[in-house]
Amino acid sequence: MKQTFKTVLATVMAMSCLGSWAQWGAPADPNPTVKLKDAYKNYFLIGVALNQRNVSDDKQIALVKSEFSSITAENDMKPGELHPKEGVWNFEKADKIANFCRQNGIKLRGHCLCWHSQFADWMFTDKKGKEVKKEVFYQRLREHIHTVVNRYKDVVYCWDVVNEAIEDNPRPSFANGKFTPGSPYRQSRHFKLCGDEFIAKAFEFAREADPNALLFYNDYNECDPGKRDRIFDMVKKMKDAGVPIDGIGMQGHYNVYGPTEEEIDVAITKYSTIVKHIHVTELDIRMNTEMGGQLRFSRGEAKPVAGYMNTLLTDQYNRVFKVFRKHKDVIDCVTLWNLGDRDSWLGVNNHPLPFDENYKPKQAYYAIKNFDAKLDNAQLKEDFVPNPCNQPGQEWPKVNSQGYARFRVEAPDAKSVIVSLGLGGRGGTVLRKDKDGVWVGTTEGPMDPGFHYYHLTIDGGVFNDPGTHNYFGSCRWESGIEIPAPDQDFYAYRKDINHGNIQQVTFWSESTGKMQTANVYLPYGYGKLVKGKNGKLEQTRYPVLYLQHGWGENETSWPVQGKTGIIMDNLIADGKVKPFIIVMAYGLTNDFKFGTIGKFTAEEFEKVLIDELIPHIDKNFLTKADKWNRAMAGLSMGGMETKLITLRRPEVFGYWGLLSGGQYAPEEIKDPKAVKVIFEGCGDKENPAGINKSVADLKAAGYNAHGFISEGTAHEFLTWRRCLREMAPLLFK
Ligand code: XIL
Repeated sequence: MKQTFKTVLATVMAMSCLGSWAQWGAPADPNPTVKLKDAYKNYFLIGVALNQRNVSDDKQIALVKSEFSSITAENDMKPGELHPKEGVWNFEKADKIANFCRQNGIKLRGHCLCWHSQFADWMFTDKKGKEVKKEVFYQRLREHIHTVVNRYKDVVYCWDVVNEAIEDNPRPSFANGKFTPGSPYRQSRHFKLCGDEFIAKAFEFAREADPNALLFYNDYNECDPGKRDRIFDMVKKMKDAGVPIDGIGMQGHYNVYGPTEEEIDVAITKYSTIVKHIHVTELDIRMNTEMGGQLRFSRGEAKPVAGYMNTLLTDQYNRVFKVFRKHKDVIDCVTLWNLGDRDSWLGVNNHPLPFDENYKPKQAYYAIKNFDAKLDNAQLKEDFVPNPCNQPGQEWPKVNSQGYARFRVEAPDAKSVIVSLGLGGRGGTVLRKDKDGVWVGTTEGPMDPGFHYYHLTIDGGVFNDPGTHNYFGSCRWESGIEIPAPDQDFYAYRKDINHGNIQQVTFWSESTGKMQTANVYLPYGYGKLVKGKNGKLEQTRYPVLYLQHGWGENETSWPVQGKTGIIMDNLIADGKVKPFIIVMAYGLTNDFKFGTIGKFTAEEFEKVLIDELIPHIDKNFLTKADKWNRAMAGLSMGGMETKLITLRRPEVFGYWGLLSGGQYAPEEIKDPKAVKVIFEGCGDKENPAGINKSVADLKAAGYNAHGFISEGTAHEFLTWRRCLREMAPLLFK
C-alpha cells in the first residue's frame, strides 16, 4: 500500500493517542480466518449459552456457527421452563435450540435437571398445596429427568444434573451448649426434604435415562477455597458411594479482579483428582465483585466502557484461558455464558463477554483466540536487574536478559494498577497485589528491544512510575524503560573515547511570539584552535544536521531517548563519521489538531526553522552555512515536517532523511540535482515494504537513495537510534 502523507500522519496520530507506546505493530487480528473453536481444537470445545433471539437472527446464527463448538440453552431446558406444572410440558423453545444444534452439527450441553432456582416447584407439593413425601418427589423428579434426557439424548452429550447444591457461607450454630458446624449444603427445598440424598437420586435417574451422557455436578464460586473444598468433599463422598458423577462443572462467573490464576489452578488440580471431566460451564467476567444476577446494571442502552476496565477484562480472560489451556487434559469444554454483552444476564453495561453489545469482538476475544502457545510454556529467566532508566537508588522496574519487564508499585488502597507496557493489543500489563499488598507483575512476553515510554493507570488515573526517570513523549513526561538490545553497544557510553557535548540554546521566535528552545550536539574538538592550511591557528567549521522529534515529543527526545550524542561520539571515534553538528529543535509549533490532519502543512515550523533557528545557529556556532553542508531529517511527525519542508525549500538542505516518517516519490522532487542523499528507514514491524519500494523507485530515477529496515523493532526509539547510526555516515560526503 502506498503510504500517503495523510495515512502516515493518521497512523502516527492514532498511535500517539493510544497512550501506550510499547510493542507497536501488533495487528488487531493476525489470524482472521481462525475462529475461537479452531484456535482451541487441540485443547477443548468452546461453548456458548444461547437464548431464542440468538437462534433467530441471521447475524447471530452466523457468529455462533463460526466461533463455537458447543451450545448450552441459557434458560430453555431448565425444569421451570420445560415443566412448569404437573403434566404440562413446554418443549418448543428447547426444541428450537436442540434442532439448531442438530442441523448444524454442534454439540449440546444439557442444562440443567435439578436446581433450587427456576425449578418445577410443583414437585414439592400435592394438589392441596401440602408438602409431599420425598418418595413422591423422587418419582416426579425421575419422570422429569427421564422425559427430558430421552427427548434430547441424540444431541445432548452431557448434563448438568445437579446445580448449585453447596452452601456459600455455612453458618455454625451454638445452642444449648452444643456447637453444630454449618451445613456444607444449600438449605434448599430439595435438601430440606431429602437431605443430600436428592443429589444421588438425580444422578441415578439421569444415568438410567442415558448411560452415554456425561453427568456433571455444576456450581459457582468454585475456586473459593472454602466452597471448593465443600464441593470436592461432596462429590468425593458421592462417588465413593457409587453415585455416577462423571464431571464437575465450574461455572466460572468471575470478575476482573479475581479469582487469581493460582486459585483457578488449585481448584482444577484438586477436582481432577476425583473426576475425569471438568467443564467450565458459564464463563463471564464481571466488572464488579458482587455475585448474583441482580446487578443493577442497566439493560438499556449500552454505555461505553472505560478503557482501563476493558484492559482489566482482557487481562483476566487472558489469565483464565491460560490456566484452562494448562489443564487441557481434564478440561473438555469452556462455555461462555451468553453470546454478546447485549444478552448477558449481568446487563449490557457490565460488559462481561468477549463480544460486545453489537457482537463485535473485543480485545478480550483476540487475547483468548490469538494466544501464543510458546508463551504458555516459556521459561522465565530470573536474572532481572534494575532498569537502566531508573532514578538513582531505585530497584524497580527491572528487566531480564530475555526482554521481560517486571514492575512493582506501592498503592495500598488501589483497586487496579495497570502498566501501559505489554504485549501488543492488550492495553498493557495488569499488576496484582502480592502477599505483602504490593502491586507486582511481569510482562507476558519479551518486549521489543530498546526504549519504551510507559505510564501507570491506577484506578483509571494516569501516573508515572516513581522508579524511573521521565521522558517527554505523548505531550507529557512519561516513565521509560530500556530493554536490552543485541546491538546496544552502539549507543553505550565508552570511557576510552572523546565525548562531545550537548548544549541548550534559546532564541527569540518572531513568528510564534515566544522564546523557543533547541539542543545542539557539538562534536568533541568543537571550538578548538587548530593549524589551518596556511599554518595559521583557526577554528574548524562544521556541517549541520537538523534532526526533528516525533509527535508529542520535544527537543529533549533525540538527545535523551535518542542517545544522539553517544551514538555520534562512538561513530566519530570509530572513524565512521566526520564530525558534524546536530540541532534538535522543538517542532510542535504547528497548529496541529484532530480532524485537521489534511491541513497539516508544517508551514509554522518551517518559519521557525528557516527564518529564525538556522540564522541563529549560523550566527552563534561555527557552521558551514550552505545547502551542501546542511541536512534535515526527522522521525515520525518530524519526518513529515522534513518531507514537506525539504520539498518546498530545496535550496536550504542538501541531505534529506525520513525515519518512520513517510517516503519521497521521485515525481515529488522537482529537480534531480536538489538532493545529494535521501535516507529512508523504519522498523520491520512498521512498513518496510513501503520503504523498500520508495528507495527502489528513487534509485531507478537516478537519486542516491538509501533504505534501512531495523530488525525486531516498531515505531519506537531503537528504530531511530539505528537509523541515525546508518544515516550519519552518508551525510556531507
Ligand atoms: C441465569 C440466566 O442467565 C438468566 O437469564 C436467568 O434469569 C437466571 O439464570 N447459574 C446457572 C445459570 O447455573 O443457569 C444461571 O443462568 C446463572 C447462574
